Amino acid sequence: MSVIDSQRSVLSGMRPTGRLHLGHLHGVIHNWVKLQHEYECFFFVADWHALTTHYETPQIIEESIWEMVIDWLAAGVSPNAANLFVQSKVPEHAELHLLLSMMTPLGWLERVPSYKDMKENLKDKDIDTYGFLGYPLLQSADILIYRAGLVPVGADQVAHVELTREVARRFNHLYGKAPDFEEMAQAAIKKMGKKFGKLYEELRRKYQEQGEQEALTRAQALLMEQQNITLGDRERLFGYLEGGGRIILPEPRALLTQAPKMPGLDGRKMSKSYDNIISLREEKDSIDQKVRKMPTDPARVRKTDPGNPALCPVWQLHEVYSDAGTKEWVQQGCRSAGIGCLECKKPVIDAIVSELEPIRERAKQYESNVSLVKSIINEGSEKARDMARDTLHEVRQAMGLNYR
Ligand code: TRP
Ligand code: SF4
Repeated sequence: MSVIDSQRSVLSGMRPTGRLHLGHLHGVIHNWVKLQHEYECFFFVADWHALTTHYETPQIIEESIWEMVIDWLAAGVSPNAANLFVQSKVPEHAELHLLLSMMTPLGWLERVPSYKDMKENLKDKDIDTYGFLGYPLLQSADILIYRAGLVPVGADQVAHVELTREVARRFNHLYGKAPDFEEMAQAAIKKMGKKFGKLYEELRRKYQEQGEQEALTRAQALLMEQQNITLGDRERLFGYLEGGGRIILPEPRALLTQAPKMPGLDGRKMSKSYDNIISLREEKDSIDQKVRKMPTDPARVRKTDPGNPALCPVWQLHEVYSDAGTKEWVQQGCRSAGIGCLECKKPVIDAIVSELEPIRERAKQYESNVSLVKSIINEGSEKARDMARDTLHEVRQAMGLNYR
Protein backbone atom coordinates (compact mmCIF):
# COMPACT_ATOMS: atom_id res chain seq x y z
CA MET A 1 0.00 0.00 0.00
CA SER A 2 1.38 3.41 -0.86
CA VAL A 3 1.78 6.24 1.59
CA ILE A 4 -1.14 8.00 -0.03
CA ASP A 5 -3.65 5.16 0.25
CA SER A 6 -2.56 4.72 3.81
CA GLN A 7 -4.54 7.74 4.84
CA ARG A 8 -7.61 5.60 4.31
CA SER A 9 -6.55 2.81 6.58
CA VAL A 10 -7.42 2.31 10.19
CA LEU A 11 -5.58 0.37 12.84
CA SER A 12 -6.39 -0.37 16.42
CA GLY A 13 -5.39 -2.88 19.03
CA MET A 14 -6.75 -4.21 22.29
CA ARG A 15 -4.90 -5.89 25.09
CA PRO A 16 -6.21 -9.38 25.87
CA THR A 17 -7.28 -9.00 29.47
CA GLY A 18 -10.34 -11.24 29.52
CA ARG A 19 -13.86 -11.20 28.23
CA LEU A 20 -15.33 -7.97 27.01
CA HIS A 21 -18.14 -6.08 28.69
CA LEU A 22 -20.70 -3.43 27.79
CA GLY A 23 -18.11 -0.70 28.22
CA HIS A 24 -16.02 -2.20 25.42
CA LEU A 25 -19.08 -2.76 23.26
CA HIS A 26 -20.24 0.84 23.38
CA GLY A 27 -16.82 2.43 23.71
CA VAL A 28 -14.88 0.52 21.08
CA ILE A 29 -16.54 -2.35 19.25
CA HIS A 30 -19.53 -0.47 17.83
CA ASN A 31 -17.07 2.00 16.41
CA TRP A 32 -14.93 -0.75 14.86
CA VAL A 33 -18.00 -2.34 13.30
CA LYS A 34 -18.87 0.95 11.66
CA LEU A 35 -15.32 1.72 10.54
CA GLN A 36 -14.78 -1.70 8.98
CA HIS A 37 -17.23 -0.79 6.22
CA GLU A 38 -15.72 2.62 5.59
CA TYR A 39 -11.97 1.96 5.65
CA GLU A 40 -9.41 -0.74 5.23
CA CYS A 41 -9.22 -1.86 8.85
CA PHE A 42 -6.62 -3.70 10.88
CA PHE A 43 -7.73 -4.82 14.33
CA PHE A 44 -5.39 -6.84 16.44
CA VAL A 45 -4.83 -8.47 19.79
CA ALA A 46 -1.97 -6.66 21.51
CA ASP A 47 -0.56 -9.66 23.37
CA TRP A 48 2.94 -8.21 23.69
CA HIS A 49 1.47 -5.11 25.24
CA ALA A 50 -0.34 -7.30 27.74
CA LEU A 51 2.99 -8.96 28.56
CA THR A 52 4.50 -5.66 29.64
CA THR A 53 2.31 -5.79 32.73
CA HIS A 54 1.55 -9.54 32.94
CA TYR A 55 4.91 -11.10 32.16
CA GLU A 56 4.65 -13.13 35.33
CA THR A 57 1.33 -14.71 34.35
CA PRO A 58 1.37 -15.29 30.60
CA GLN A 59 -1.26 -18.08 30.84
CA ILE A 60 -3.91 -15.44 31.44
CA ILE A 61 -2.98 -13.79 28.19
CA GLU A 62 -3.29 -16.95 26.14
CA GLU A 63 -6.77 -17.73 27.43
CA SER A 64 -7.88 -14.17 27.02
CA ILE A 65 -6.84 -13.95 23.39
CA TRP A 66 -9.44 -16.42 22.17
CA GLU A 67 -12.14 -15.16 24.51
CA MET A 68 -11.59 -11.67 23.25
CA VAL A 69 -11.61 -12.58 19.57
CA ILE A 70 -14.82 -14.58 20.07
CA ASP A 71 -16.36 -11.47 21.61
CA TRP A 72 -15.22 -9.34 18.66
CA LEU A 73 -16.71 -11.76 16.16
CA ALA A 74 -19.91 -12.20 18.14
CA ALA A 75 -20.38 -8.46 18.37
CA GLY A 76 -20.12 -8.00 14.63
CA VAL A 77 -16.48 -7.40 13.82
CA SER A 78 -16.18 -9.29 10.58
CA PRO A 79 -13.15 -11.08 9.15
CA ASN A 80 -14.56 -10.37 5.70
CA ALA A 81 -14.52 -6.65 6.26
CA ALA A 82 -11.51 -6.18 8.53
CA ASN A 83 -8.14 -7.80 8.99
CA LEU A 84 -8.03 -9.52 12.38
CA PHE A 85 -4.75 -10.75 13.79
CA VAL A 86 -2.55 -11.30 16.79
CA GLN A 87 0.43 -9.00 17.28
CA SER A 88 2.99 -11.68 18.15
CA LYS A 89 2.13 -13.58 14.98
CA VAL A 90 3.56 -10.65 13.05
CA PRO A 91 7.12 -10.46 14.37
CA GLU A 92 7.84 -7.57 11.99
CA HIS A 93 6.31 -5.31 14.66
CA ALA A 94 9.20 -6.25 16.92
CA GLU A 95 11.87 -5.53 14.34
CA LEU A 96 10.41 -2.12 13.61
CA HIS A 97 10.16 -1.45 17.34
CA LEU A 98 13.85 -2.27 17.68
CA LEU A 99 14.86 -0.02 14.80
CA LEU A 100 12.74 2.85 16.09
CA SER A 101 14.23 2.41 19.55
CA MET A 102 17.63 3.37 18.15
CA MET A 103 16.50 6.91 17.42
CA THR A 104 13.87 7.56 20.03
CA PRO A 105 15.13 9.83 22.81
CA LEU A 106 14.55 8.37 26.27
CA GLY A 107 12.92 11.62 27.36
CA TRP A 108 10.12 11.16 24.84
CA LEU A 109 9.14 7.91 26.53
CA GLU A 110 9.59 9.08 30.10
CA ARG A 111 7.41 12.08 29.32
CA VAL A 112 4.36 10.07 28.15
CA PRO A 113 1.70 10.74 30.81
CA SER A 114 0.41 7.16 30.99
CA TYR A 115 3.90 5.99 31.94
CA LYS A 116 3.97 7.92 35.17
CA ASP A 117 0.30 7.20 35.93
CA MET A 118 0.64 3.47 35.44
CA LYS A 119 3.74 3.32 37.54
CA GLU A 120 1.84 5.04 40.32
CA ASN A 121 -1.24 2.83 39.94
CA LEU A 122 0.50 -0.49 39.58
CA LYS A 123 2.78 -0.12 42.58
CA ASP A 124 2.21 -3.75 43.55
CA LYS A 125 3.60 -4.94 40.22
CA ASP A 126 7.19 -4.61 39.23
CA ILE A 127 6.98 -2.71 35.99
CA ASP A 128 10.24 -0.92 36.33
CA THR A 129 11.27 -2.67 33.16
CA TYR A 130 12.71 -1.91 29.79
CA GLY A 131 9.62 -3.35 28.10
CA PHE A 132 7.20 -1.20 30.00
CA LEU A 133 9.05 2.00 29.23
CA GLY A 134 8.92 0.98 25.57
CA TYR A 135 5.17 0.29 25.64
CA PRO A 136 4.19 3.38 23.64
CA LEU A 137 7.02 2.88 21.17
CA LEU A 138 5.86 -0.67 20.50
CA GLN A 139 2.47 0.87 19.87
CA SER A 140 4.10 3.27 17.40
CA ALA A 141 5.61 0.31 15.58
CA ASP A 142 2.15 -1.35 15.47
CA ILE A 143 0.74 1.70 13.75
CA LEU A 144 3.63 2.60 11.47
CA ILE A 145 4.23 -0.89 10.16
CA TYR A 146 0.83 -0.69 8.39
CA ARG A 147 1.28 3.00 7.62
CA ALA A 148 -2.13 3.49 9.10
CA GLY A 149 -3.64 6.93 8.71
CA LEU A 150 -6.24 6.74 11.45
CA VAL A 151 -6.06 5.23 14.89
CA PRO A 152 -9.34 4.98 16.78
CA VAL A 153 -8.52 5.29 20.47
CA GLY A 154 -9.88 6.61 23.71
CA ALA A 155 -8.61 9.85 25.20
CA ASP A 156 -6.05 8.00 27.35
CA GLN A 157 -4.23 6.82 24.23
CA VAL A 158 -3.98 10.10 22.34
CA ALA A 159 -0.53 10.79 23.78
CA HIS A 160 0.67 7.51 22.27
CA VAL A 161 -0.49 8.54 18.83
CA GLU A 162 1.23 11.90 19.34
CA LEU A 163 4.46 10.11 20.16
CA THR A 164 4.00 8.02 17.01
CA ARG A 165 3.77 11.19 14.95
CA GLU A 166 6.98 12.52 16.43
CA VAL A 167 8.79 9.26 15.88
CA ALA A 168 7.61 9.05 12.26
CA ARG A 169 8.70 12.61 11.63
CA ARG A 170 12.10 11.93 13.08
CA PHE A 171 12.47 8.76 11.07
CA ASN A 172 11.54 10.47 7.81
CA HIS A 173 13.84 13.33 8.60
CA LEU A 174 16.77 11.02 9.28
CA TYR A 175 16.27 8.48 6.52
CA GLY A 176 13.91 9.97 3.98
CA LYS A 177 16.41 12.23 2.34
CA ALA A 178 18.16 10.69 -0.58
CA PRO A 179 21.12 12.87 -1.57
CA ASP A 180 19.39 13.93 -4.78
CA PHE A 181 15.99 14.47 -3.18
CA GLU A 182 15.71 18.14 -4.01
CA GLU A 183 16.56 17.62 -7.69
CA MET A 184 14.17 14.71 -7.99
CA ALA A 185 11.39 16.77 -6.45
CA GLN A 186 12.06 19.63 -8.87
CA ALA A 187 12.02 17.24 -11.81
CA ALA A 188 8.69 15.83 -10.62
CA ILE A 189 7.22 19.32 -10.41
CA LYS A 190 8.20 19.93 -14.03
CA LYS A 191 6.27 16.82 -15.04
CA MET A 192 3.10 18.32 -13.63
CA GLY A 193 3.12 20.95 -16.37
CA LYS A 194 3.48 24.71 -16.12
CA LYS A 195 0.14 25.58 -14.64
CA PHE A 196 -0.09 22.91 -11.94
CA GLY A 197 3.60 23.03 -11.20
CA LYS A 198 3.37 26.73 -10.47
CA LEU A 199 0.29 26.25 -8.32
CA TYR A 200 2.04 23.52 -6.35
CA GLU A 201 5.06 25.74 -5.70
CA GLU A 202 2.82 28.56 -4.60
CA LEU A 203 0.85 26.42 -2.17
CA ARG A 204 4.03 24.87 -0.84
CA ARG A 205 5.49 28.30 -0.17
CA LYS A 206 2.30 29.44 1.57
CA TYR A 207 2.32 26.40 3.80
CA GLN A 208 6.02 26.51 4.63
CA GLU A 209 6.29 30.25 5.13
CA GLN A 210 2.94 31.04 6.69
CA GLY A 211 1.93 27.66 7.99
CA GLU A 212 -1.38 27.83 6.12
CA GLN A 213 -3.03 24.51 6.77
CA GLU A 214 -5.46 25.08 3.95
CA ALA A 215 -2.64 25.52 1.45
CA LEU A 216 -1.30 22.14 2.51
CA THR A 217 -4.66 20.46 2.05
CA ARG A 218 -5.11 22.05 -1.35
CA ALA A 219 -1.66 21.04 -2.51
CA GLN A 220 -2.29 17.47 -1.39
CA ALA A 221 -5.55 17.42 -3.32
CA LEU A 222 -3.75 18.83 -6.33
CA LEU A 223 -1.22 16.01 -6.18
CA MET A 224 -3.95 13.42 -5.96
CA GLU A 225 -5.46 14.74 -9.20
CA GLN A 226 -2.25 14.58 -11.23
CA GLN A 227 -2.39 11.87 -13.87
CA ASN A 228 1.04 12.12 -15.41
CA ILE A 229 3.37 11.70 -12.48
CA THR A 230 4.47 8.36 -11.10
CA LEU A 231 3.51 7.08 -7.69
CA GLY A 232 7.09 7.58 -6.52
CA ASP A 233 7.01 11.20 -7.70
CA ARG A 234 3.75 11.78 -5.96
CA GLU A 235 5.07 10.49 -2.66
CA ARG A 236 8.18 12.58 -3.11
CA LEU A 237 6.08 15.67 -3.67
CA PHE A 238 3.95 14.87 -0.66
CA GLY A 239 7.14 14.84 1.38
CA TYR A 240 8.54 17.93 -0.28
CA LEU A 241 5.41 19.85 0.69
CA GLU A 242 6.10 19.44 4.36
CA GLY A 243 9.72 20.33 3.97
CA GLY A 244 11.24 16.96 4.63
CA GLY A 245 12.31 14.25 2.29
CA ARG A 246 10.42 11.24 1.13
CA ILE A 247 7.77 10.12 3.60
CA ILE A 248 8.53 6.52 4.43
CA LEU A 249 6.40 6.34 7.55
CA PRO A 250 3.37 8.63 7.36
CA GLU A 251 2.15 10.36 10.49
CA PRO A 252 -1.11 8.87 11.77
CA ARG A 253 -3.95 10.76 13.36
CA ALA A 254 -5.93 9.74 16.41
CA LEU A 255 -9.61 9.18 15.77
CA LEU A 256 -11.09 10.00 19.11
CA THR A 257 -13.95 7.66 19.84
CA GLN A 258 -17.14 9.54 20.61
CA ALA A 259 -19.09 7.17 22.77
CA PRO A 260 -21.65 7.59 25.48
CA LYS A 261 -20.20 6.96 28.92
CA MET A 262 -21.05 3.46 29.98
CA PRO A 263 -21.53 3.39 33.71
CA GLY A 264 -20.84 0.27 35.67
CA LEU A 265 -23.38 -1.25 38.03
CA ASP A 266 -22.22 1.08 40.80
CA GLY A 267 -22.17 4.23 38.70
CA ARG A 268 -18.40 4.33 38.36
CA LYS A 269 -16.84 3.62 34.98
CA MET A 270 -17.49 0.02 33.95
CA SER A 271 -14.31 -1.93 34.60
CA LYS A 272 -13.33 -5.44 35.57
CA SER A 273 -11.19 -4.12 38.39
CA TYR A 274 -14.24 -2.47 39.99
CA ASP A 275 -16.25 -5.69 39.69
CA ASN A 276 -19.17 -3.73 38.25
CA ILE A 277 -19.52 -5.17 34.77
CA ILE A 278 -22.06 -6.86 32.55
CA SER A 279 -20.15 -9.07 30.16
CA LEU A 280 -21.10 -9.50 26.51
CA ARG A 281 -22.05 -13.10 27.15
CA GLU A 282 -23.98 -12.47 30.36
CA GLU A 283 -27.07 -14.70 30.66
CA LYS A 284 -30.52 -13.16 30.81
CA ASP A 285 -31.13 -14.05 34.45
CA SER A 286 -27.83 -12.69 35.50
CA ILE A 287 -28.43 -9.39 33.73
CA ASP A 288 -31.78 -9.20 35.45
CA GLN A 289 -30.31 -9.83 38.88
CA LYS A 290 -27.39 -7.50 38.46
CA VAL A 291 -29.51 -4.55 37.37
CA ARG A 292 -32.10 -5.22 40.09
CA LYS A 293 -29.36 -5.05 42.67
CA MET A 294 -28.03 -1.75 41.39
CA PRO A 295 -28.01 1.06 43.94
CA THR A 296 -30.33 3.97 43.19
CA ASP A 297 -30.75 7.47 44.58
CA PRO A 298 -30.28 6.87 48.34
CA ALA A 299 -33.08 9.37 49.04
CA ARG A 300 -35.61 6.86 47.75
CA VAL A 301 -35.85 4.66 50.80
CA ARG A 302 -39.54 4.01 50.27
CA LYS A 303 -41.41 4.02 47.01
CA THR A 304 -43.22 7.17 48.19
CA ASP A 305 -39.95 9.12 48.57
CA PRO A 306 -39.24 11.25 45.51
CA GLY A 307 -35.79 10.92 43.93
CA ASN A 308 -33.42 12.63 41.56
CA PRO A 309 -32.19 10.72 38.51
CA ALA A 310 -29.02 12.80 38.44
CA LEU A 311 -27.96 10.99 41.62
CA CYS A 312 -28.74 7.51 40.30
CA PRO A 313 -26.57 5.19 38.19
CA VAL A 314 -29.69 3.62 36.64
CA TRP A 315 -30.42 6.94 35.01
CA GLN A 316 -27.03 6.82 33.29
CA LEU A 317 -28.08 3.54 31.74
CA HIS A 318 -31.31 5.15 30.51
CA GLU A 319 -29.13 7.79 28.89
CA VAL A 320 -27.48 5.04 26.87
CA TYR A 321 -30.46 2.83 26.15
CA SER A 322 -33.74 4.73 26.35
CA ASP A 323 -35.64 6.86 23.87
CA ALA A 324 -36.90 10.36 24.70
CA GLY A 325 -40.32 9.14 25.82
CA THR A 326 -38.92 6.64 28.28
CA LYS A 327 -36.47 9.15 29.67
CA GLU A 328 -39.30 11.61 30.22
CA TRP A 329 -41.24 8.88 32.03
CA VAL A 330 -38.25 8.25 34.29
CA GLN A 331 -37.70 11.93 35.07
CA GLN A 332 -41.36 12.52 35.90
CA GLY A 333 -41.92 9.27 37.72
CA CYS A 334 -38.76 9.47 39.80
CA ARG A 335 -39.19 13.06 40.90
CA SER A 336 -42.86 12.59 41.75
CA ALA A 337 -42.42 9.16 43.30
CA GLY A 338 -44.86 7.98 40.65
CA ILE A 339 -42.81 4.92 39.72
CA GLY A 340 -40.76 2.51 41.77
CA CYS A 341 -37.10 1.81 41.15
CA LEU A 342 -37.71 -1.77 39.99
CA GLU A 343 -40.26 -0.48 37.54
CA CYS A 344 -37.74 2.07 36.34
CA LYS A 345 -35.11 -0.59 35.83
CA LYS A 346 -37.32 -2.77 33.70
CA PRO A 347 -36.81 -1.00 30.34
CA VAL A 348 -33.04 -0.99 30.92
CA ILE A 349 -33.01 -4.70 31.65
CA ASP A 350 -35.06 -5.37 28.52
CA ALA A 351 -32.78 -3.23 26.39
CA ILE A 352 -29.61 -4.94 27.60
CA VAL A 353 -31.11 -8.40 27.27
CA SER A 354 -32.17 -7.80 23.70
CA GLU A 355 -28.89 -6.18 22.83
CA LEU A 356 -26.87 -9.10 24.15
CA GLU A 357 -29.08 -11.99 23.07
CA PRO A 358 -27.83 -12.18 19.47
CA ILE A 359 -24.25 -11.64 20.64
CA ARG A 360 -24.51 -14.50 23.10
CA GLU A 361 -25.97 -16.76 20.42
CA ARG A 362 -23.20 -16.01 17.97
CA ALA A 363 -20.56 -16.40 20.66
CA LYS A 364 -21.87 -19.91 21.38
CA GLN A 365 -21.24 -20.93 17.81
CA TYR A 366 -17.66 -19.75 17.99
CA GLU A 367 -17.14 -21.29 21.43
CA SER A 368 -18.01 -24.66 20.00
CA ASN A 369 -15.72 -24.10 17.03
CA VAL A 370 -12.57 -22.51 18.38
CA SER A 371 -10.57 -23.92 15.49
CA LEU A 372 -12.57 -21.65 13.19
CA VAL A 373 -11.61 -18.68 15.35
CA LYS A 374 -7.99 -19.72 15.20
CA SER A 375 -8.04 -20.09 11.46
CA ILE A 376 -9.57 -16.63 11.07
CA ILE A 377 -6.70 -15.24 13.10
CA ASN A 378 -4.08 -17.27 11.25
CA GLU A 379 -5.31 -16.04 7.94
CA GLY A 380 -5.53 -12.44 9.12
CA SER A 381 -2.04 -12.64 10.58
CA GLU A 382 -0.62 -13.91 7.28
CA LYS A 383 -2.19 -11.03 5.40
CA ALA A 384 -1.00 -8.53 7.96
CA ARG A 385 2.48 -10.00 7.65
CA ASP A 386 2.59 -9.43 3.92
CA MET A 387 1.91 -5.79 4.46
CA ALA A 388 4.27 -5.49 7.41
CA ARG A 389 7.06 -7.10 5.39
CA ASP A 390 6.66 -4.53 2.63
CA THR A 391 7.03 -1.64 5.03
CA LEU A 392 9.94 -3.23 6.77
CA HIS A 393 11.66 -3.77 3.46
CA GLU A 394 11.44 -0.06 2.76
CA VAL A 395 12.53 0.82 6.24
CA ARG A 396 15.60 -1.38 5.95
CA GLN A 397 16.34 0.05 2.54
CA ALA A 398 16.10 3.60 3.85
CA MET A 399 18.39 2.79 6.76
CA GLY A 400 20.88 1.03 4.56
CA LEU A 401 20.28 -2.38 6.12
CA ASN A 402 19.46 -4.41 3.03
CA TYR A 403 22.79 -6.18 2.80
CA ARG A 404 23.21 -8.83 0.22
N1 TRP B 1 -2.32 0.57 24.18
C1 TRP B 1 -3.63 0.26 23.66
C2 TRP B 1 -4.60 0.12 24.85
O1 TRP B 1 -4.18 -0.10 25.95
C3 TRP B 1 -3.63 -1.01 22.85
C4 TRP B 1 -2.80 -0.86 21.63
C5 TRP B 1 -1.61 -1.48 21.37
C6 TRP B 1 -3.11 -0.07 20.50
N2 TRP B 1 -1.16 -1.12 20.14
C7 TRP B 1 -2.04 -0.26 19.59
C8 TRP B 1 -4.16 0.79 20.18
C9 TRP B 1 -2.00 0.42 18.37
C10 TRP B 1 -4.11 1.47 18.97
C11 TRP B 1 -3.04 1.28 18.07
O2 TRP B 1 -5.78 0.24 24.65
FE1 SF4 C 1 -33.01 5.77 39.88
FE2 SF4 C 1 -35.17 5.25 38.46
FE3 SF4 C 1 -35.17 4.85 41.09
FE4 SF4 C 1 -35.15 7.31 40.13
S1 SF4 C 1 -36.76 5.81 39.87
S2 SF4 C 1 -33.88 6.53 41.78
S3 SF4 C 1 -33.90 7.06 38.29
S4 SF4 C 1 -33.94 3.79 39.56
